[in-house]
Amino acid sequence: MNDAAPATQPETFYLKDYTPFGFDVDSVELIFRLAPDTTRVLSKIHFTPKPDAADRTFFLHGEQLSLISARIDGAEVTPELTASGLTCDVPDQPFVWGAEVEINPQANTALEGLYMSNGMYCTQCEAEGFRKITYYPDRPDVMSTFSVRIEGDEKVMLSNGNPVDTGGGFAEWHDPWPKPAYLFALVAGDLVNHPDRFTTRSGKEVLLNIWVRPGDEHKCDFGMNALKKSMAWDEEVYGREYDLDVFNIVAVDDFNMGAMENKGLNIFNSSCVLASPETSTDSNFERIEAIIAHEYFHNWTGNRITCRDWFQLCLKEGLTVYRDAQFTADMRSAPVKRIEDAIDLRARQFPEDNGPLAHPVRPESFQEINNFYTATVYEKGAEVIGMLKRLVGDAAYYTAVDLYFDRHDGQACTIEDWIKVFEDSTGRDLQQFKTWYSQAGTPRLKVSETFADGTYTLTFRQSTPPTPGQDHKDPKVIPIAVGLLSAEGAELVPTTVLEMTQAEQSFSFEGLDAQPVPSILRDFSAPVILDRETSAQERAFLLAHDTDPFTRWEAGRELAKASRIAMVKDGASPDAAYLEALKTLVRDDTLDPAFRALVLSPPSESEIAQALADQGVTPDPDAIHDAAETFAQTLAQSLSDSLPRLFAATLVDGPYQPDAIGAGSRALNGRLLGLLTRIDGGEAAARQYEEADNMTVQNTALACLLKAEKGESQSRAFFEQWQDDRLVMDKWFALQVATARPERAPTVAAELTKHRLFTIKNPNRFRAVMGALSMNHAGFHQADGSGYRLLADQLIALDALNPQTTARMCTAFQTWKRYDDARQALMLAELERIKSTSGLSRDTNEMVSRILD
Ligand code: ARG
Ligand code: ZN
Repeated sequence: MNDAAPATQPETFYLKDYTPFGFDVDSVELIFRLAPDTTRVLSKIHFTPKPDAADRTFFLHGEQLSLISARIDGAEVTPELTASGLTCDVPDQPFVWGAEVEINPQANTALEGLYMSNGMYCTQCEAEGFRKITYYPDRPDVMSTFSVRIEGDEKVMLSNGNPVDTGGGFAEWHDPWPKPAYLFALVAGDLVNHPDRFTTRSGKEVLLNIWVRPGDEHKCDFGMNALKKSMAWDEEVYGREYDLDVFNIVAVDDFNMGAMENKGLNIFNSSCVLASPETSTDSNFERIEAIIAHEYFHNWTGNRITCRDWFQLCLKEGLTVYRDAQFTADMRSAPVKRIEDAIDLRARQFPEDNGPLAHPVRPESFQEINNFYTATVYEKGAEVIGMLKRLVGDAAYYTAVDLYFDRHDGQACTIEDWIKVFEDSTGRDLQQFKTWYSQAGTPRLKVSETFADGTYTLTFRQSTPPTPGQDHKDPKVIPIAVGLLSAEGAELVPTTVLEMTQAEQSFSFEGLDAQPVPSILRDFSAPVILDRETSAQERAFLLAHDTDPFTRWEAGRELAKASRIAMVKDGASPDAAYLEALKTLVRDDTLDPAFRALVLSPPSESEIAQALADQGVTPDPDAIHDAAETFAQTLAQSLSDSLPRLFAATLVDGPYQPDAIGAGSRALNGRLLGLLTRIDGGEAAARQYEEADNMTVQNTALACLLKAEKGESQSRAFFEQWQDDRLVMDKWFALQVATARPERAPTVAAELTKHRLFTIKNPNRFRAVMGALSMNHAGFHQADGSGYRLLADQLIALDALNPQTTARMCTAFQTWKRYDDARQALMLAELERIKSTSGLSRDTNEMVSRILD
């Protein structure tokens, strides 16, 4: 047993050190003899030495495995075991490696490798989990076909590819598509299926299944439809068809991430696939649809073409996130999706890119690759694809992507391969564009303007602040989508993409009668911070007249931020002009309710904290919270005459439909009910709770009541109604922490960790409580340090069981440098306490060390 002994000095891996493996793997045969604590894995792996290999070391990864026996061409051998695998003398000729190992799925609380969730066997191998299943060259550039035999008495036993044979006590699968080990999957347990079929456009019949625990059958329909829509969309938009006879999806309760694209056998966190109107909110539905699409789209961008090494993770993730965003835009509302993505990027990626954890979209080193499944790799990675598409144009984009599929199908690729197909098919030089992949940090874009003799000139200056390990930043290529409006609100110059390549650059528009109003960074055309001094009046004008939904919404967001900052900094009252603008907008029935809801959504308190810090003001979380409350209260009062009528108009009749139209109306319903609850004593919310026939409105009503501290009886009723539904209970746990008054939040969270339904072993439940605490800005940042202490206590306890989720949640501390000395000292003390925990995982150690640096 070579238990992963905590290395004193954790090894760092570098992109520049890449060397190919010295052998080809021609095929893999695996037999699993399932037993909860003594599963045997028998492997037969056909290796062929590469004639031209520089390095022919035969090293197989392996962790937490008990080696029973090893053979080469049938003859027993004694390999040399190391902490991370084994080496062995091997022939110069093709040979068959055979091994039998024993593993303990029952004891696997890290949820990586083969583990058990509610009595069901399942796997998570990305990135480096296969080495906990058997000895193998566990690297994405080693691709092979897999044949798998599962022996056990489970009702359902699944693996990748197509079913070959099944009988009493066994099931055999064969995956004809060569794949890296991280795409391997196995599931076995008492599962029921929700079946369907899909005919590909070339006429291939595919059997589709969503497998769930008995009792969850009624929550599969929406996911199945999302899958079929994804399959059709990828054919239509990217010309990509599915390539196996079956496509299986399994829902698992204990899962570290959202979902996993294992070839032909996607495994999902149950929260990312199970849905019903009674138990899921509109945002759940939208997210589930997107994640089903995301994992399905990986079949081409990730599986058929995979990554050469883990530094290239954005090659599959950035592209696949971009594709799922396109899909959502097509299925729902493109402007709403774009605004949501900008909000999300600013909330999760900007803090990362502007703090101690900043790293390039393609990182150059890591200790634990699981720590790099980040908003930067995923979401900024997707933004980079979007910019590329904007620069080359839609038609050229699809031509280049076609070339990518033609040229690289079946290969393990790099970002260079990706850039090259664009260079080859468009003739453009994209070397400067590549800095988006290699240099971290969010560019600032400072704008100034002049107008003379009918010529309007915009001058942009770009700069990116230094990030850890990268002091110098080169100018990036930035597509800046701009439109010009007349003083009357007419579109003088329609959206034009300015291509900025220099540190400072001017663009002129001629033949104008008067100075126009510019609308800059339309559709959020680049993930940058726009810095433009302008008047509140001009922002209000854009909020009323801009033809681009993103910049229109952005104008309102800037007004909101400015007003909040003035309230916190100077004790100002809520800005009257902004309140007026909001009132006009919310009453405008010609506007999409979803858009109105977005305009009414206030900037987060964390965003205000960052904005203050950027101005050199130390943010006070309590003052920021008070300003948010005062603003909302003032808005509610100034809207009081029309609120009941506006609110009533959002109550949609007829059965619940989880589509964009209904969701938009309910989003507005939620915003308005939040305001109404501030002035009607909770009457409307209590009524809505009483009458709710779907989770969206029920959840909204409960949130409003809890926030007003008037929801005790409803909260109890909610618990009674839903205590047997794990996913709804996650909402119940999260809501209480999210809605708690700041000074109560740490106590509420602490009490919930003692609730009989709380378990640290289930990542969803843990995140429901601790994630909600870290997102209750003023609650987490209580001056007495109680929020910090509670989170650190919980993270220390979790690390011993589940390093991956622990490390990820350490990011709650990444903004520590924003705050006052006293809070900084408290956070540092907690980070040091985590770091000094004996036996701390490599994952958490790396994260905490980087945050402290
Ligand atoms: N490839 C998966 C997805 O984005 C995520 C799996 C990440 N797993 C991990 N252990 N880091 O669809
Ligand atoms: Zn992905």
